[in-house]
Amino acid sequence: MNIKWDAKGYTDNFSFVHQYGNALLDLIDVQPGMTCLDLGCGNGALTAELSKAGLSVIGLDASPELLKIARAQHPDLQFVQGDAADFSLKEPVDVIFSNAVFHWIDAGRQENLLSCIYRALRPGGQLIFEFGGKGNNALIHRELKKAFERRGLTYRFPFYFPSIGEYTMLMEHAGLQPTYALLFDRLTPLNGDDGLYDWIQMFVKTPFAGVTEQVKEEIIREAVEALFSKLFLDGKWHADYVRIRCKASC
Ligand code: BEZ
Repeated sequence: MNIKWDAKGYTDNFSFVHQYGNALLDLIDVQPGMTCLDLGCGNGALTAELSKAGLSVIGLDASPELLKIARAQHPDLQFVQGDAADFSLKEPVDVIFSNAVFHWIDAGRQENLLSCIYRALRPGGQLIFEFGGKGNNALIHRELKKAFERRGLTYRFPFYFPSIGEYTMLMEHAGLQPTYALLFDRLTPLNGDDGLYDWIQMFVKTPFAGVTEQVKEEIIREAVEALFSKLFLDGKWHADYVRIRCKASC
């Protein structure tokens, strides 16, 4: 999926995406001198944490907008542009780390993604990742779908959110051995009075292709209103995240 990111808006208002990624770092067995690829590094915030943890790290991302921010904020680190489902490295690395990326890659390209990872990891290397799992943002997508259908429009679901069973099987087919897999709910507080409206504007883009700005705004407002009782909690908007978190060896 080719998304043109509002990189500044993402960095300013959605930093929780990488803040939650910090817990994932604890799954890495770091040894001195290890090399690491941060796959889908975005603005480089977690690439910098991987470097602080003692890894010799490269960040790879498809978005030139996000890479520009990554390079400006972390001039000492190495970043390259590339497609997570179609990349190769000159030398295999010890660790591949990825946070909140794989759900952007279509189901039909997940095998390519995992084959690229397998080839880019040295034998015995570690793969550690987290992304949206089965049921992720189900309340939000259900209301958006209803608002589309009330207008006679089709809501084309834009993400890949697999179950643990489905994804561990794909990993095994690619030659990777899952050693840890968890699917868990994480109701996530959003910033600002319009937190859910802003979240949808930032992250749900492709279903609105061909929809006018006015209709798009109406649809999002309608969905947000319908979600008030479920996702406006303790005076704050939330998103109904479900994560799949895994570790595998090569
Ligand atoms: C996620 O991190 O699960 C996610 C973020 C934005 C859109 C879809 C999923």
